[in-house]
Amino acid sequence: MPRDRFDLVIAANRLPVDRAREGGRSVWRRSPGGLVTAMESVMSDRDGAWIGWSGVAGRAPAPFEQDGMHLHPIALSADEIRDYYEGFSNGSLWPIYHDVIVPATFKRRWQAAYEQVNQRFAEIAAELAADGGTVWVHDYQLQQVPRLLRELRPDVRIGWFNHIPFPPVELFMQLPARDGLLRGLLGADFLGFQRLADAQNFRRACRQLLGDEQVTVRGDVVRTADGHECRAAAVPISIDTRGMVELAATPAVQERAAEIRAQLGDPEHLLLGVDRLDYTKGIRHRLKALEELHREGRLDADRTKFIQVATPSRERLEAYQQIRDDVERTVSRINGDHSPIGAPTVTYLHRSFPREEMAAMFVAADVMLVTPLRDGMNLVAKEYVAAHDDSGALVLSEFTGAATELKQAFLCNPHDIARTKQTILRAIDAEPRERARRMRAMHRQVLRHDVQHWAEQFLTDLATAPRQP
Ligand code: ADP
Ligand code: G6P
Repeated sequence: MPRDRFDLVIAANRLPVDRAREGGRSVWRRSPGGLVTAMESVMSDRDGAWIGWSGVAGRAPAPFEQDGMHLHPIALSADEIRDYYEGFSNGSLWPIYHDVIVPATFKRRWQAAYEQVNQRFAEIAAELAADGGTVWVHDYQLQQVPRLLRELRPDVRIGWFNHIPFPPVELFMQLPARDGLLRGLLGADFLGFQRLADAQNFRRACRQLLGDEQVTVRGDVVRTADGHECRAAAVPISIDTRGMVELAATPAVQERAAEIRAQLGDPEHLLLGVDRLDYTKGIRHRLKALEELHREGRLDADRTKFIQVATPSRERLEAYQQIRDDVERTVSRINGDHSPIGAPTVTYLHRSFPREEMAAMFVAADVMLVTPLRDGMNLVAKEYVAAHDDSGALVLSEFTGAATELKQAFLCNPHDIARTKQTILRAIDAEPRERARRMRAMHRQVLRHDVQHWAEQFLTDLATAPRQP
């Protein structure tokens, strides 16, 4: 018998599954991105409801149960997808929150659609939350939901977690919607950020943009004029580490890893990149570094191979079409200039894979290249570290949240191509003892701080956050 009220309600732009067409039929597929990877494993042993968009335009499919969870699709019209999702969320907020790697665009129509869709999410969350229940809102697409929900349901505990960075006030203040976004978030009891610096950026924005008349900031608590208190702190997200450790150790994954290497001609060094095809991920910089290393003869195309998995993402946006064109052109140039017959220097894979295949690639790779120009956390880095206990090497950008925790990685500044090249070579040439020392320390770190630990920390912080004075 389906229940209609839940003690825990998750609100995220996407459901864990995405409606797609396969061979003329409509099917549910796993949604892309780190938010879903993390929350799927958190919710697998908890009861609750998840509200989110189904991935297609028009009427929402009926709510349904999956893996013990109640999934409640939210309808988005074609115009709302254009204005709220592609426009405001990914054309205004995403660039501002990621250091304006591409210029941000602002349109009043987009902002109105964002408010309208956030209102819809708040209304459904208000209907589904049990008396005194908890609503956990996720990410930059839903920053108005905490305030709107509090107006409808002052009895529920409201938390929000930002999976991406929170920008310095100098960038944030470009947003015409800036005050409304801050006031939207301040409706929550607890706000979780990836890094301390993100939480500080948020508190500074409140202080500077809302001013003494609207807020008082004491330590990590922001108090609004009506007496409501909201705590903003760092709770870095992680992965299902044990799940990945076990998966990586299965004979099927081990055999598949050996097979992948054999298919590439058993290279001496196998390098790997795994990213959504997003301009924030630094794929262009990584390819430039590799291309120069090949051109200068410092990498040998017979002995070194590179697999780049680039998951399709936000394909109707021009900036994403541009990065795809650039990446595909560069891959093809590197292969044209350097590949021996039948053994491409770069194997480029522009599609999604099952978890087992991803794990096999992690196990197979000698060096993982994670070089974003800005990334809230980067779960791929943690997945690679979980799949190795004393082998492999991680080249990691200093501009990821993961770099705060994975200090034994070969850290790099991807903007500095010359140094990045040296770092890649150092990772390739490191002695097995040095690799083992670094990897063991990072492996321990992700075992200690896994996604279950993260979720418990977040929910405890939310349950114990101050409310009214
Ligand atoms: P983001 O959330 O920005 O996409 P993350 O690195 O934090 O970046 O998370 C990406 C998640 O998606 C990881 O769990 C990764 O293993 C998964 N992933 C990335 N590419 C693929 C793919 N092609 N097929 C299946 N899973 C993928
Ligand atoms: C990042 C964001 C998520 C988003 C995911 C995939 O991880 O933090 O909120 O769901 O990318 O992007 P998409 O636009 O396809 O949902």
